This record gives sequence, C-alpha cells and structure tokens, in this order.
Amino acid sequence: MANERDSLRAPKGTNDILPPGSFRWEALVRLAQDTFEQAGYAPVETPTFEDTALFERGVGETSEVVTKQMYSFEDLGGRSLTLRPEGTAGVVRAVIEHNLHRGALPVKLHYSSWMFRQERPQRGRYRQFFQVGIEAMGTDSPSVDAEVIEVGDRFLRSAGSTPTLLLNSIGHPAADCRAGYNQVLVDFLRAHEGDLAPEDGKRIDTNPLRTFDSKEEATIAVMASAPVITDHLCGACAEHFEDVKAHLDALGVVYTLEPRLVRGLDYYTRTAFEFVWSGLGSQNAMGGGGRYDGLAEMIGGDPLPGIGFALGVDRILLALNDAGIEGGPKVDVYIVAQGDETAAEALVLATRLRRAGIGADLDHTMRGMKGQMKEAARSGARFAAILGSDELAAGEITLRDLTSGDQERVPATDLESKVRAG
Ligand code: HAM
Repeated sequence: MANERDSLRAPKGTNDILPPGSFRWEALVRLAQDTFEQAGYAPVETPTFEDTALFERGVGETSEVVTKQMYSFEDLGGRSLTLRPEGTAGVVRAVIEHNLHRGALPVKLHYSSWMFRQERPQRGRYRQFFQVGIEAMGTDSPSVDAEVIEVGDRFLRSAGSTPTLLLNSIGHPAADCRAGYNQVLVDFLRAHEGDLAPEDGKRIDTNPLRTFDSKEEATIAVMASAPVITDHLCGACAEHFEDVKAHLDALGVVYTLEPRLVRGLDYYTRTAFEFVWSGLGSQNAMGGGGRYDGLAEMIGGDPLPGIGFALGVDRILLALNDAGIEGGPKVDVYIVAQGDETAAEALVLATRLRRAGIGADLDHTMRGMKGQMKEAARSGARFAAILGSDELAAGEITLRDLTSGDQERVPATDLESKVRAG
C-alpha cells in the first residue's frame, strides 16, 4: 500500500537530475547531438509510448525486455500501449510510416530520449533512463557500420571516457548462417544441460544465443567452451564482417573481437558491438548497438536494412565521475541592489542585459548586501553589478570583477560594453 510519504518520493528506479549535475548532463547530451549532426544525422522525436505490438514484434518476444520489463498499459480506448523500452523500433516505424526511406538513402537520424524498463534497480540500472542514439537505415554497406561505430567511439572519447569497443558478427537468420549455428549451439547446450543454471536450461530451444548473456556462474563456465557464431558465419556474413573490420582499421578505431557478444534484443543481425568500461561494475555497458536488417519486416514494413547504437547517459556520467565534460550556469552578471528604490531597477537592468545576450540574475527576496554578494558568488557570474542609491542618482553602476576583486564605477549605459570587454 502506498503511504502518504510515497507521493514525496520519486518512483523506485527513477532519478531527479538536479543542479549542478544537471548542467553536465545537458552539456553531455549537447556534445552528443553536435557530434551526430556533424556526421550528417538529423534529429528525430518519436512518441514516448507506442503500440505494445511494435515492441513485441520488433524487440522480440523472447527478449527479457519484452517478457519482463515493459511498462504496458491499456488506455481509455482499450488500446495496449507501452512506454518505449528502447528507441530503434519507434524510429524505424516512423521512417516507414512517413516514407522517409523512399528518398535519399541512407536515412540518418539521431535521438536523445527517456526510455523505460522495469528492471531491478542498481547502480547504473534504472527504470527510467536516458539514451542518445543514432540510426542509419537503407543500406547494408559495411562502410555505414564503420561510420556508426566510429561516431559512437569518438563521442565517448571526446566526452572524456576511455571505453573498450567489443565487436562481433552474429550472422543473419537464414538456414546456412545463424539458424545453422543455433542447431550446433542447441546440441552443445543439450549435452551440457545438467551443468547449466536451471533458468538457462529452460530457454535452450526458444533462444539459445541468449545463454551467452547469463550472469549465472555455472552457465558462464559452460559457455567458455561453447561453439561461437563467428566460426559458423555464412560466406556473405563472414565477408561483410571482414569489410567492417577493414573499414574500422582504416579509421584507426581500436576494437576487441568478442565472439560471445550477442546483445539482448532480438532484432540484431550481423554486426553487434558494445562500448564497455570496467569502472562501471556489473552494469559495464556504456552503450551498444548493431545491425537490424530484418527489423522493418518484423514490424510489418518492406525490407529496410539498418544499423545504429544507443548510449546510456546516466551510465556515461557515472563513468566520467567528475572528469571530462563540463557544464555550468550561464550567468555573466549578478545584480546586487542596495536599498528599496533600487530593487525595481535591478530587474530592469537584468532584463536589459539578457535582451543584449548577456546572462544576468538578481535577488528577488530583498537580502542584505552580504547575502546578495554570496548569491553572486554562487551564481557563477564573472561580475557583480552593484547598484546603490548613490549609483542610481549618478546614473552609474559599480562593476566588481568577482575573480580578481577589482571594481570600478562605470556609466550605467556602458555596462554591456564593459561586461563584453571582460
Ligand atoms: P541496449 O543495449 O538495450 O540497446 O541499451 C543501450 C544502452 O542503454 C546500454 O548500454 C546502457 O548504457 C543503457 N541502458 C539500458 N538499460 C538501462 C537501464 N535500465 N538503466 C540505465 N541505462 C540503461 C538498445 O537500446 C538499442 N536500441 C540500441 C540500438 C540502436 N541498436 C541499434 N540501434
């Protein structure tokens, strides 16, 4: 039963992003957006909720995200809707619905959005979390795989982190590739069934690949000697993977081949990758992605190959700690008004500065001089503009440089130019 105090607490697994950390958060998202747009990716916004069937078909009915983690609800019209657990299915749906794929290809889009998964919360794992991501749709050319991976890698590095890039190819579903390998893997798992954790024994037939994702010690020990997909790729997938690696080598992107990397969502084909950082502990993935050449058809559209990634902003900031990205208040001048008659003038002055493109703030609560100077320091402003009755009468302002402590009286009309001259 909810008690009264619960209405004063954010729901379990959610976070409030508060200042000053919220400035770094915003700076990180802006850096991502700039990096993505500089590579030709255009912003896209899709609804926070979609038809439940979109995720069931797209993300897959054997994935944990769909079976255990979705926030699904019925709306007043009796439709089953789901808060998006990830962004790719919605973006692909939007591209098909609006025929963006009938124009120039690939369609390159980026998003920065909240996602929702009902997971057991722990450090780096929340029920509402924020992703930045890109998707390139309309070609299976290995060069776009390399472009996508390089953009993600460069963004994470320019933000100040040092991730390890894990790379794999998981083939495609046809009989001579993943389906053939699945049979080899099922045979292996059956032969070792008694040694697997009971939970993992249950999905041998439904989704054997997922066994590689198990966190159970017993299963991990078994999987160390399991056959790996890269030894069973069909000719076309093996060649595609070689080309992706050659492109990454040409770009100087360093990767570690990880033939046991399978990713948790069902739509992946061929290239799969993850950016991990050991300092994050058990939730060590800063982000990941891969190719999803069959996703458009899974959700009822025409074939539309694609590749993309999503990076977890909450986790990147945990990984960065206090290093790397910087963001802070944008107040340049704090107006310190002394005396009743100057209080109204302070707002006029702050507004004048803001209209001129200069960040300005002021006290609205009639604090004393000392209190206002404290606020001025806290605001991060470079200058305090002190306005007393003397200054008011003379049409002047005392401008104090809060870093050096130097101050001078200047004509009020010169304030903008003095501040700009810094
Ligand atoms: P994902 O691996 O499920 O992929 O999520 C990507 C990243 O989102 C994770 O590596 C992690 O940083 C963050 N993340 C996931 N779940 C949580 C959580 N509960 N709490 C905090 N952070 C979380 C996808 O979502 C795919 N849509 C990526 C993609 C795009 N593939 C192709 N295009």
